[in-house]
Amino acid sequence: MTTRGNGRTTGHRVAVIGAGYVGLPTAATLARFGHSVVLAERDLAKLETLRRGLSPIVEQDLDELIAGGVASGNLSFTESAVEAVKGARFVFLCVPTPQSSDGSADLSFVEAAAKEVAAHLATGAIVVNKSTVPVGSATFVEQVIGRSDVSVVSNPEFLREGSAVLDSLNPDRIVVGSDDTQAAAKVGELFATTAAPLIVTDATTSETIKYASNAFLATKLSFVNALAGLCEEVGADARDVLLGLGYDKRIGFEFLRPGPGWGGSCLPKDTSALLHIAKEAGYDFSLLAGAIASNDEQLARVIGKVEQMCGGSVTGVTLGVWGLTFKANTDDRRESPSLQITGRLTELGATVQAFDPTVDAEAEPREDLRGLQLRADPYEAAAGARALVVLTEWDEFRWLDFSRVLALMAEPCIVDARNLLDPSAVRRMGFRYTGLGRQ
Ligand code: UDX
Repeated sequence: MTTRGNGRTTGHRVAVIGAGYVGLPTAATLARFGHSVVLAERDLAKLETLRRGLSPIVEQDLDELIAGGVASGNLSFTESAVEAVKGARFVFLCVPTPQSSDGSADLSFVEAAAKEVAAHLATGAIVVNKSTVPVGSATFVEQVIGRSDVSVVSNPEFLREGSAVLDSLNPDRIVVGSDDTQAAAKVGELFATTAAPLIVTDATTSETIKYASNAFLATKLSFVNALAGLCEEVGADARDVLLGLGYDKRIGFEFLRPGPGWGGSCLPKDTSALLHIAKEAGYDFSLLAGAIASNDEQLARVIGKVEQMCGGSVTGVTLGVWGLTFKANTDDRRESPSLQITGRLTELGATVQAFDPTVDAEAEPREDLRGLQLRADPYEAAAGARALVVLTEWDEFRWLDFSRVLALMAEPCIVDARNLLDPSAVRRMGFRYTGLGRQ
């Protein structure tokens, strides 16, 4: 492994395959770094939006970054992956790796993309696995491509949705792994204008770093959520307990907020995948299995709080819900704890009136929102409700007119699964309030 700091970069021809949550910020960032980037996306509606210099996903500052890339001439788009890779020195695979039924990562999109472009890659091109892929995938992609002049490098992304632009312009670290060390180092040089430390390692280690990072974050959150539960039992204030923890620099304040459980497109999928990898390798990773089980318990704990607030049962009860995305500042609802909780509440016989700033209540109901009564604003969601459940930490919820909310609700009850509101302020107004780990 070698580590290196700053360096200089000259523009390279780069292809990025897939304009999703990873490919889009990656392409726009590489264009900003001075590379000439062609982004391939099959979805024609998405492509049209991109060509207008707009982002097809809700992501802070991404519109500006895309528009800047287009205006500079460094960023262009095509429907064809084959077209994108023509003459490219680097080809980033940023296609989805969804979870298979056995918990492992499904590599079919990676395989299909590699197969499609294999014969069209420039001599000496470097293919970069940016998607989160199982340990050993670099070798798999090498075999699919089947060309001795082409190297495959693992370069995992660590982008958080909602701050993907910030994260990709100012990464904490760049990890590149390959059995061809020179190729790995060349991929690292693409990011040389950042101040991030570069870790050059082998492909297996690089792939493991990605899973290890997300599994560690998930474990940290499971610990935090369980701790909040313990605080309730012993009468401690989780907020102060976590403050006391966070000031220890070895622990830090990041990822220390209790919530309804961790979700999103990465943490659940990657923890399951790592558990699967461990099992295949004959390694008993019971700690990680415990973190996953603890996350399910957290969902149940929140549902229990709602039931308790409604006198023991939600059957036949109308509930108001604020927030459907898996966290704030994104429109992503994949593996959203909010949807898992609202789904179970509906199964238990509740009528759920939900509002989320990124969900258009008038639009065609989408499959994942089936069973929910979508409302156009947070007040409508609260109207007539026996209890209000805050499930996503959208900042705008803090600044609503709570006297109006109070007047609209059937009962003045709030379950705040994000500890977003000020308990004493809402209690003073007459609400019954319960959060996580606070009295
Ligand atoms: C994550 C990783 O952070 C990122 O490095 C990786 O590349 C992709 O997966 P993301 O899925 O965007 O990013 O979400 P993240 O911000 O990590 O949040 C994950 C989940 O944890 C969300 O459900 C969020 O609400 C929850 N969370 C996060 C908490 O409940 N409390 C916290 O303090 C932080």
